[in-house]
Amino acid sequence: MKHYTAKAHTNIALLKYWGKADSELIIPTTSSISLTLNEFYTQTTVWFDSTLDQDRVVLDGILLSTKASTKVVHLLNLVRQLSGLTSYAHVESHNHVPTAAGLASSASAFAALAGAASRASGLTLSRQDLSRLARRGSGSASRSIFGGFAQWERGHSDLTSFAKPIMEEVTWPIQLVTVLINDQPKKVSSRTGMQLAQTSAPGYQQWVADTNAANSAALTAIFNQDLATLGCLAEENALAMHALNPTATPPFTYLTTQSWAVIRLAQTLRNNKGIPVYATMDAGPNVKLISQPHDTSVIMQALHQILPNVQTQIATPGPGINIVEGDT
Ligand code: PMV
Repeated sequence: MKHYTAKAHTNIALLKYWGKADSELIIPTTSSISLTLNEFYTQTTVWFDSTLDQDRVVLDGILLSTKASTKVVHLLNLVRQLSGLTSYAHVESHNHVPTAAGLASSASAFAALAGAASRASGLTLSRQDLSRLARRGSGSASRSIFGGFAQWERGHSDLTSFAKPIMEEVTWPIQLVTVLINDQPKKVSSRTGMQLAQTSAPGYQQWVADTNAANSAALTAIFNQDLATLGCLAEENALAMHALNPTATPPFTYLTTQSWAVIRLAQTLRNNKGIPVYATMDAGPNVKLISQPHDTSVIMQALHQILPNVQTQIATPGPGINIVEGDT
């Protein structure tokens, strides 16, 4: 069978997905908005092989155990259902999302897998259907099909829950400075974290209502190239999401003293120096600073004053998925 290789970039949510309305189909409680990043991506090659007696998944040169490949096999099963193929697949994947960037690779990984596996099975899905398929691997992967700014509309069923492009070519100056607080695997996975957050009452329902309402304001800010409004919405949304976790049953938190120091730094730079810099955090302690390339040196200086040895990486807007025939 033919080999197909897909390259998908990771994304960071500015308005978050943090909870499922349907955990089997991965239908979220909120619509979310993200920025796809140029520097970090996953490249995955898939081919089906009738001589295999199970799927064979190799990640960065290492053959995964049956347990470690469960989520990959789940997505391959969906591809087999859609295409009518019955054979197993070879999956070879390379992650270019260094742990040292403090970013999750599941978005780029499942977007690339959905792209390569669907094409290798003979399917030619539209980007909307590809987004729906990637969603079934990891919710945030639905957004990595598209470049630049994307919105995952929560929808209410498998057919209506998918991401769409908002602005794929981002020509205005926006970047994320990723601040690495800790590169260890997280203690509470995003799957568990969002399940627990949903027990936070009545805070969770309020967060859902606020996030859904913030979507239209964020879209307007993107079209107006209005970093200040978009940044404020993103920071508010992330802080409100992280405020749910300590009031869940049982309570938990991803943020450390160092995370808070970086969040406060963003606020101080805005308030005291008028520099547009806004913090966002995902299922871990690392902080990403939404900012302008122009302000990089001031931000770095201020960061190194409070955390002298902290590692940082800069990420800029990136492209949507690319799928080609063959190995690359
Ligand atoms: O796609 P998952 O299951 O890894 O969940 C991602 C959750 C967050 O990164 C915290 C938020 C988001 O919208 O990406």
